[in-house]
Amino acid sequence: MVKIKMPRGGAYKPMSRRHNRTLVYALVVGAFFGAFYIYNGPIDAFAVPWDAHEGYMNDRSNVDGFIAKGSYDWRKAPFHNKIESYTPLPAGKPRTLPPIQFDFPEETSSQRARRELRRVAVRKEFERSWGNYKKYAWTRDELMPITGRGDDPFGGWGATLVDSLDTLWIMGLKDDFYEAVEAVAHIDFGKSVMSTISVFETTIRYLGGLLAAFDLSNERVLLDKAIQLGEMLYRSFDTTNNMPLDRLPIEGAKQTGGAGFSADNQICFAAIGSLTMEFTRLAQVTQQPKFYDAVARVTELFDRAQNSTRIPGLFPTWVNAQREDLAADRSFTVGAMADSSYEYFPKMHALLGGLEPVYEKLYKESAPMIDKHMLFRPMMPEEEVGQELLYCGNVNAYEDVEIKVDPRMQHLTCFVGGFFALAGRIFENSHDVDLGAKLTEGCIYAYKAMPTGVMPEIFYTTPCEDRYVCPWNQTLYEAEVMRHSYLHRDDFEATVSSSRLPRGFTKLEDKRYLLRPEAIESVFVMYRITGREEYLDHAWDMFLGVQKASRTKFGNGQILDITADPPLLPEDKMESFWLAETLKYFYLIFSPPDMIDLDDWVLNTEAHPFRRPKSLQMETGG
Ligand SMILES: *[C@@H]1O[C@H](CO)[C@@H](O)[C@H](O)[C@H]1NC(C)=O
Ligand SMILES: *[C@@H]1O[C@H](CO)[C@@H](O)[C@H](O)[C@H]1NC(C)=O
Repeated sequence: MVKIKMPRGGAYKPMSRRHNRTLVYALVVGAFFGAFYIYNGPIDAFAVPWDAHEGYMNDRSNVDGFIAKGSYDWRKAPFHNKIESYTPLPAGKPRTLPPIQFDFPEETSSQRARRELRRVAVRKEFERSWGNYKKYAWTRDELMPITGRGDDPFGGWGATLVDSLDTLWIMGLKDDFYEAVEAVAHIDFGKSVMSTISVFETTIRYLGGLLAAFDLSNERVLLDKAIQLGEMLYRSFDTTNNMPLDRLPIEGAKQTGGAGFSADNQICFAAIGSLTMEFTRLAQVTQQPKFYDAVARVTELFDRAQNSTRIPGLFPTWVNAQREDLAADRSFTVGAMADSSYEYFPKMHALLGGLEPVYEKLYKESAPMIDKHMLFRPMMPEEEVGQELLYCGNVNAYEDVEIKVDPRMQHLTCFVGGFFALAGRIFENSHDVDLGAKLTEGCIYAYKAMPTGVMPEIFYTTPCEDRYVCPWNQTLYEAEVMRHSYLHRDDFEATVSSSRLPRGFTKLEDKRYLLRPEAIESVFVMYRITGREEYLDHAWDMFLGVQKASRTKFGNGQILDITADPPLLPEDKMESFWLAETLKYFYLIFSPPDMIDLDDWVLNTEAHPFRRPKSLQMETGG
């Protein structure tokens, strides 16, 4: 266990350095052998028990200094739309939930050697980007991977810096971690380069990043920063009905004379619904119920509205937060704009130790409807391949028209494989685990089918009528390709060759790959759940494909066209989730399976691990 003391006053200096530079260099130079030195036990050896943070809450010594609060103390900001009484965190002893992870046997030395080679390769890829971020874009939101400049599209508080903290810790890069913590100590959340900030993005990237890094390291300044940021984001709930805003005006939130805000009449389901994990974790570590209360109110609305939407059980893409109306919008997806709100239902169940039944209800009434209306088997030239695949499309609900899937598959939607499988384990439903496996297989296949070995942002296939019998129909396939084709005068062959369409795919609507994590996320979850080694090989193929097509002078850039082989020059953009999520999942799948064990940790939608409550620890620690 790491014990760290905050120095009083003066510049913040992290005290604990478990590994010196020599070791870090030895690791890089010594290829995979180095890995055994840096990582010689489960990650939990470095971490603190779930409930061990409380002692820190009594020590407020540093909170009033600039380091902790920056130029404005958000704890003192007004909150006009007062809440009469707070919904408390569910009380009681956390339940022991069913095991998620496979019971892995001891690995052989050759398995370990191969795994470690791959793991070191992932870490090297991370270190290249991180080193250049430090050199050319330190404390900026993003490193521009081609020009080597900095960019600030996320409030200018160092999105990449905060988002990468736990990856640094997990990869054993402790010197870099403490250097980053020191820079985080100087972030000023009191002001921003932007006049309004996205509440959702700031919550999942920054607040999630700070809380996870605190859970792993117990560095007090990370909690102080999380509290300041949490207090700022809490002001987005200062609306007449306490529903959160999509974007928070930073200066407006400080105004004492006003009356707060009115909630949005149009906000996407993801933005209103996926603040739950971060605010709950903040409430758990600070023991301040207001943070939990804020998100519990949104959950209560979902619970109330779930059966009255246009497809009862499912939630529409757009929500009227002002009128608390979820029945107006007819469009439904689990991709962009909705994804993480669904993702958080089973994860909240885990984070709350199974003590709050509403999240199980929300999952159990939505999952079968996703299965029924949105999941489909794609028609593939080899029927037996198609048998193993599922994709997930969108639906629209019109009166008197049968609901029919729009087979538009997004890279973002690839998280559903891991989502169904994880929930299937948590709620002991093998049907859902099986759906998760087939959905993950669908994304693996889409990677393999493309010339670069990387899946595009959006594509179409032909949905089968039947999930069990689906013979290839060339006439139907050609008709579908032509239906999607912009150039109707072209013939089928010309369309296929000009758009480099792999067989079975009817359109590649957006050929980019934006360094997104969702496919490797699901492969990682499936591996931890089943222990099947083939997932390691799939992950490695995906890594090599992405690495080859995205590598730039300073880092990795968004791929413009995953059908271009040799690859085109990538775009000059590297979002913080490349280091926070994508490379973390690649690293974790090639790590020993007790590193971020899914029975101890639950990851937010930005891959930030939060410590799960454990009945055992509650008994001994409490
Ligand atoms: C939802 O509504 C349907 C009727 O539209 C009803 O049969 C079902 O029991 C309701 N479910 C819940 C949980 O209220
Ligand atoms: C193949 O698809 C076409 C176009 O939808 C359809 O008319 C035909 O009946 C199908 N053939 C078979 C064998 O199902």
